[in-house]
Amino acid sequence: MELSSLNIFMLFFILFSATSTAQDIPPGSTLYASNPQQSWASPNKSFTLSFIQESKNAYFAAITYNSVPIWKAGGDPGGAVNSSAELRFLQDGNLQLVVLVGSTTSLVWQSNTSRQGINSASLDNSGNFMLKNGNVSVWTTFDNPTDTIVPEQNFTAGNVLRCGFYSFRLLSSGKISLKWNNSVEYYTYAGINVTSELNVSSPSLAMQPEGILSLLDPLLSINVLMARGSVYGDSSDGILRFVKLDCDGNMRMYSSALSEGVGNRVVRWTAVSDQCEVFGFCGSYGVCRYDEPDKVPTCGCPSRNFDPVDPNDGRKGCRMIGDIKSCQTTIMSLNNTLFLTYPPQFDTDYFTANIRACRSNCLVDAQCVASSSMADGTGACYMKRSDFITGYHSPILTSTSYVKVCDPALPNPPFSSRNEGGSAELKIGVIVLGSDYASGVPLQFSFKKLQQLTKGFVEKLGEADVYSYGMVLLEIVGGRRNFEVSPETNNRRFSLWAYEEFEKGNVGAVVDRRLVESEIDCVQATRVLQVSFWCIQEHPSFRPTMGKVVQMLEGIADVQKPPPPLFLSDGSARSSVVISSVSSSQMMAVSSLASS
Ligand SMILES: *[C@@H]1O[C@H](CO)[C@@H](O)[C@H](O)[C@H]1NC(C)=O
Ligand SMILES: *[C@@H]1O[C@H](CO)[C@@H](O)[C@H](O)[C@H]1NC(C)=O
Ligand SMILES: *[C@@H]1O[C@H](CO)[C@@H](O)[C@H](O)[C@H]1NC(C)=O
Ligand SMILES: *[C@@H]1O[C@H](CO)[C@@H](O)[C@H](O)[C@H]1NC(C)=O
Ligand SMILES: *[C@@H]1O[C@H](CO)[C@@H](O)[C@H](O)[C@H]1NC(C)=O
Ligand SMILES: *[C@@H]1O[C@H](CO)[C@@H](O)[C@H](O)[C@H]1NC(C)=O
Ligand SMILES: *[C@@H]1O[C@H](CO)[C@@H](O)[C@H](O)[C@H]1NC(C)=O
Ligand SMILES: *[C@@H]1O[C@H](CO)[C@@H](O)[C@H](O)[C@H]1NC(C)=O
Ligand SMILES: *[C@@H]1O[C@H](CO)[C@@H](O)[C@H](O)[C@H]1NC(C)=O
Repeated sequence: MELSSLNIFMLFFILFSATSTAQDIPPGSTLYASNPQQSWASPNKSFTLSFIQESKNAYFAAITYNSVPIWKAGGDPGGAVNSSAELRFLQDGNLQLVVLVGSTTSLVWQSNTSRQGINSASLDNSGNFMLKNGNVSVWTTFDNPTDTIVPEQNFTAGNVLRCGFYSFRLLSSGKISLKWNNSVEYYTYAGINVTSELNVSSPSLAMQPEGILSLLDPLLSINVLMARGSVYGDSSDGILRFVKLDCDGNMRMYSSALSEGVGNRVVRWTAVSDQCEVFGFCGSYGVCRYDEPDKVPTCGCPSRNFDPVDPNDGRKGCRMIGDIKSCQTTIMSLNNTLFLTYPPQFDTDYFTANIRACRSNCLVDAQCVASSSMADGTGACYMKRSDFITGYHSPILTSTSYVKVCDPALPNPPFSSRNEGGSAELKIGVIVLGSDYASGVPLQFSFKKLQQLTKGFVEKLGEADVYSYGMVLLEIVGGRRNFEVSPETNNRRFSLWAYEEFEKGNVGAVVDRRLVESEIDCVQATRVLQVSFWCIQEHPSFRPTMGKVVQMLEGIADVQKPPPPLFLSDGSARSSVVISSVSSSQMMAVSSLASS
């Protein structure tokens, strides 16, 4: 055979084998982190297994949809490797993730599937990667999930999702549960009342393509709803919906739409609506709070008796200066702060004691490192004796906490009042509107629903912070964060710009475009805007009571034109309205304005 025809023959052979192996990957195949083009794809190319780069020196061998990972070899962070990594499908059927160290290799993760007759691998159109003996799957990524559940994946009571200290499980009782360090259960949910209604025998979770997480069981005639995405649709729309345990300890439902661009991913549901309630989010001795302007959860230390473990990453927690076992100890008081306590700590940490005893009992108990007095009328006091304690500070928390430190106690400088406002606002947003508010998902509501929610909120919390409520209200109707500054808002705070536009009669520009198509009409939008401007008046005496807010939203009380909210601090927001002539009683007076 001539050399050239041999070459042509080989070329044909290679082309032929390349197409025939597009679905079946033969043993001996390898993916290289240094070659990002290379991948093993599903037949219709919707899913691929390849190396992805998440930061400068962190690569993962991952199955992705629209460049969004749904499975990572070795999990996160355990499977993070550098550019010298390889994913090897060995001749003996084992799948290995290795890193080259000089001329040798270091094993990061393996499937442990040697000598089981595995002779091919494939990734199917639902995103399941299988190691197969003939047509029988011996090992699959669906049975060995890392942090994600996708449609068609059968998640059973034996499976676990993990990231770092956090894990997600389906219990044999049919409940779902989030735990820290496999023990502290900071979230649990049962879709059914198992004891009285029904029993389950071998429960499993399934992600419905349209965005519903369901519980399935042979003893149940119906699928039980466990979580529902805020926006759901049918399955043939190029959108993948999945639930994922994020490394911040929260479980979220996401959607990724091909039409929204590569890597796009939007939160549709969050298990723990208040991120600061996730145990250990701020590390040992870390205290979580919400700060303006972005209102993301922020980690700090309880007092200046502590140093951050990593000044660039508050989530790493705090280290005490000195050793309370050997130094002269004292108790540091922390107002509006709670040290989080969840099962099974309730049993060991719970006592009843008044506030002073909650403090002094900890001081005299050698094992006690901190305590929290709930100060909610129940006399509950949690005595913390573990090395790992984690706190939450918010002006709306009634609890006072105590932490044992080496003398003298060095309190933190106080947060500014604006910081405190931001936190209350977020909390109120979460209470009134649910988890979507915290996750920044576009809010969907009808005017009627808003009335009901506000009424329920007042019944639950009474005369809470009207200012914060008003900020939340303005954010909902405007679809933008109040401190957002953009060219669209003339580079001014949204709340200030919104008032100016409102005054010019330009309500349409202020209202969220997505709401324009929904149930809310112009009269209702105007009413909501006016109520929100009254609530965020800088002068507290101008603000209505929550009871009045309900009446105004329901149209029982009419709403007068509000003065500019920030008349003191922002000169440009001044208008022709004569502030001194407006009183809070006047504002409630029956008026022809905005009635109809
Ligand atoms: C990757 O990490 C290994 C150690 O885990 C190291 O020996 C090797 O030099 C690193 N390779 C690159 C390209 O950074
Ligand atoms: C493979 O075996 C090792 C050692 O027994 C174990 O640590 C690892 O978790 C196993 N891998 C899988 C994917 O089960
Ligand atoms: C690939 O196949 C899956 C499952 O049959 C289907 O849901 C998906 O729409 C397909 N994707 C493309 C790009 O054809
Ligand atoms: C697997 O292959 C065997 C023999 O070729 C066949 O009898 C069997 O039905 C196949 N099983 C499946 C699930 O396709
Ligand atoms: C999920 O897997 C379990 C265990 O393999 C099995 O008993 C159950 O029938 C499966 N459920 C579904 C819906 O496929
Ligand atoms: C996590 O749990 C293990 C075993 O129960 C325990 O030894 C370890 O100290 C815990 N980790 C932390 C950070 O508390
Ligand atoms: C479950 O049913 C029992 C018995 O009927 C009842 O006492 C309990 O309150 C119910 N729990 C819930 C969460 O509905
Ligand atoms: C569930 O199981 C318990 C204990 O096995 C039994 O007493 C109860 O009647 C069962 N409930 C139903 C609805 O079958
Ligand atoms: C904590 O609250 C008490 C009572 O309201 C107050 O006297 C004290 O000054 C507060 N401490 C700090 C550090 O804010």
